[in-house]
Amino acid sequence: MPQTADVVVIGGGVIGAAIAWRLAVGGASVVVADPAPGSGATGTAAGMLAPVTELHYGEEPLLRLNLAAARRYPGFVAELTEASGVSVGYRRTGTLAAAWDGADLAALRDLHEFQRSLGLNGQMLSGADLRGLEPSLAPGLPGGLYAGDDHAVDPRRLHAALVTAAERAGARLERQRVQRVEVDEHARGVVLDDGTKLIGACVVLAAGSWSGSTAGLPAGIVPPVRPVKGQTLRLRLDTSERLTHVTRGTVRGSPVYLVPREDGELVVGASAEEAGFDLRARSGAIYELLRDAQALLPAVLEMEWVEVSTGLRPGTPDNAPIIGSADVDGLVIATGHFRNGILLAPVTADAVQQIVLTGSTPEDVRAFAPQRFAGLVRPT
Ligand code: GLY
Repeated sequence: MPQTADVVVIGGGVIGAAIAWRLAVGGASVVVADPAPGSGATGTAAGMLAPVTELHYGEEPLLRLNLAAARRYPGFVAELTEASGVSVGYRRTGTLAAAWDGADLAALRDLHEFQRSLGLNGQMLSGADLRGLEPSLAPGLPGGLYAGDDHAVDPRRLHAALVTAAERAGARLERQRVQRVEVDEHARGVVLDDGTKLIGACVVLAAGSWSGSTAGLPAGIVPPVRPVKGQTLRLRLDTSERLTHVTRGTVRGSPVYLVPREDGELVVGASAEEAGFDLRARSGAIYELLRDAQALLPAVLEMEWVEVSTGLRPGTPDNAPIIGSADVDGLVIATGHFRNGILLAPVTADAVQQIVLTGSTPEDVRAFAPQRFAGLVRPT
């Protein structure tokens, strides 16, 4: 028997779950289809909310969206915690970018100047300042940059909270893969792996790295998303050598970050590999992460090993997300969040809520419409 809903959301990661919650709160009936919700990039992400320290030269439009998302986070977390009863591990202790050597410190000074030219807050630190803030860091680091507005959240708890809140608001979860989307001149719904039809007045494509391989989409509508493999490690330390701040660094040219949680967990990330849909953990990536993490924080080698996790960031040609109505009635795209999916979940969900419920697109996501990639020739 076909089932019907106002909206069918393809993908139940942090983006799909946040969209489902906001749509259900807005009064829509919602079904989310995902065989293993939260087990993709969401489950691997460390949870940095870092518009400042994740800033890359030439990505100013993305910076504006990232800043809007960071401003939205406190209210989003408060509302979500209230709605779900789940604490999401939101920490506002700020982020340290530690320099490895003099050249690295010079690069951080340049970055700091660039950040200041964009009106961002940041503060250069001496080596002594750095160790004053984090006494467990390796001796001899020459300094760094403090970004007090870059925070962190626990993505697994965030996702659990979103699913609970969405279900409490009436959304339903179908733990199945979408076999194909049904589209003629209008999106009609999806067919699940067991053949069940979910008929929806609107379909939201939020399948992360798999968004580009969802069957049934007309050729001109397929979003240009590719998987960028990332590995993170989970370690645990119960002594006083815990970090307080998210700490990042570039050790002999190799980027690494350490994200502490209140309960003693430390997430170390992340590799960035163009390896297609290969989800196997690679020993070389684990070695490099541990090597560089312990160079910044020697206590890493004394920690309990908990887990290695592999996820696929949904990358796009300009590293920015794809959010907006597709050129097919009733089809909305919310994918391609690449390195910023956890940060961008609130603004993406609010934008999709507005698009679906009112037909208008909020100003802050207009630059990220799917149409900016029209005519792009995709590799076959
Ligand atoms: N945002 C961190 C990462 O993509 O590794």
